[in-house]
Amino acid sequence: MVTDGKVKNTIRVISKGGSNTATAYQSLTDEQRKDVLDGLDSKALLSLTRLLQASKHKIFHSEFCRVEAMSAHHIRTPVYLLNERLIRENMGMMRYVKDRTGCKILHALKAFASFALFPLMSGYLDGTCASGLHEARLGREEFKKEVHAFAAAYKEDEVGHILGYSDVIIFNSFHQLEEYGQMVRDARVQVGLRVNPGHSEVATKAYDPCAPCSRLGITVSAFSKGFKRYGALVDGLHFHALCEQNADVLERVLGSFEGLYGPYLEGLKWVNFGGGHHITRDDYDVERLVKVINNFKNKYGLQVYLEPGEASVYNAGFLIASVLDIVENETLIAILDASAEAHMPDVLLMPYRPYVMGSGQPDEKKYSYRLAGPSCLAGDVMGDYSFDRPLQRGDKVVFTDMGLYSIVKNTTFNGMGLPDIAVMKETGGLETVKTFSYEDYKARQS
Ligand SMILES: Cc1ncc(COP(=O)(O)O)c(C=O)c1O
Repeated sequence: MVTDGKVKNTIRVISKGGSNTATAYQSLTDEQRKDVLDGLDSKALLSLTRLLQASKHKIFHSEFCRVEAMSAHHIRTPVYLLNERLIRENMGMMRYVKDRTGCKILHALKAFASFALFPLMSGYLDGTCASGLHEARLGREEFKKEVHAFAAAYKEDEVGHILGYSDVIIFNSFHQLEEYGQMVRDARVQVGLRVNPGHSEVATKAYDPCAPCSRLGITVSAFSKGFKRYGALVDGLHFHALCEQNADVLERVLGSFEGLYGPYLEGLKWVNFGGGHHITRDDYDVERLVKVINNFKNKYGLQVYLEPGEASVYNAGFLIASVLDIVENETLIAILDASAEAHMPDVLLMPYRPYVMGSGQPDEKKYSYRLAGPSCLAGDVMGDYSFDRPLQRGDKVVFTDMGLYSIVKNTTFNGMGLPDIAVMKETGGLETVKTFSYEDYKARQS
């Protein structure tokens, strides 16, 4: 029997499919949201998911317009612009998955480590996952919640320090488990093993942790021998085999994982399904993810963890650059003050063509340009684009989805200055949280 007026009202709003459903639901306390979900049948739950996704889509649209308008005003470039409202929207969707499943979600610091946003993010997620000492420390000191560390191999002189910042340490081999496992247990830190789930659907080999000869994750043949001997030291298993993928891929990877490792799960505390879940993408099948996690939990009774990185800041970061010059060689080339090589390295590594606000494919709009960086690298090129108006020197160009794997990977190649980092506040203003100088470049040379 529901007595809380806010809970009753939210259930009513959801049942009517009201446009204020998302605000009503997301503004409730943990307990109230749980009561709301308990009060909904499966049809109403489905409707809630759709309403949350639709509301999020609408907010992204209006915030994109705000970013475009803001970029036209005076703003020092290059700058990574992080939109607080959009990150909150992503957080809300991820918390909804937690609400529906009881899973825990860790933010993968490798994708995004701009800690100015951690006070916001830590209100929604359970902690961070770290790739080693520095990320573990940042997670502990700035996110201030659970820290789960995984490295393909740990250095002897670092393990003790990582322990001091972590709740869980995940090993990639029985050799490392044998070497450090007891020390980890003695420090009351949990022990995990990363396994190769034996199935992945990642087209690019460099991003496929299950590609032939991969070093990432213990193979089932090694596992079946080692687990007999060391199983008593292990609290949980971890796999990571997704890359920007939907819940159908997780379902198939999990099926393979269960087939290989299901017999070893009894007595463990948790299984970590890794990252690569594009939960906050418009077409992500949240209902399917909820079903997959709940089925797994019901079958094995284990705590499920997810550790996505991209999903936290998906489409919520921008890189604004200015046109420095326009040169011509068969085509018009706009040279920007931001570099693909130094400031958006995945553009060249993956490679992919980032979206630029207001642009079209080459020749789709009247004025076509190649956008390129100022470095010496001939291939420092973002791609070919077209615009409704001719580009002028001094014009701003806004690259979207630049929060993830950009700030964490950028370099000072050519001694180039790093872009500022600014936060577009929910309250309306813009706060530059970091600027860089010659000292940052010099500090990394000898
Ligand atoms: C072990 C592990 N966990 C989590 C992630 C985060 O993945 P994503 O940012 O694609 O969600 C990665 C990415 O490479 C990873 O290797």
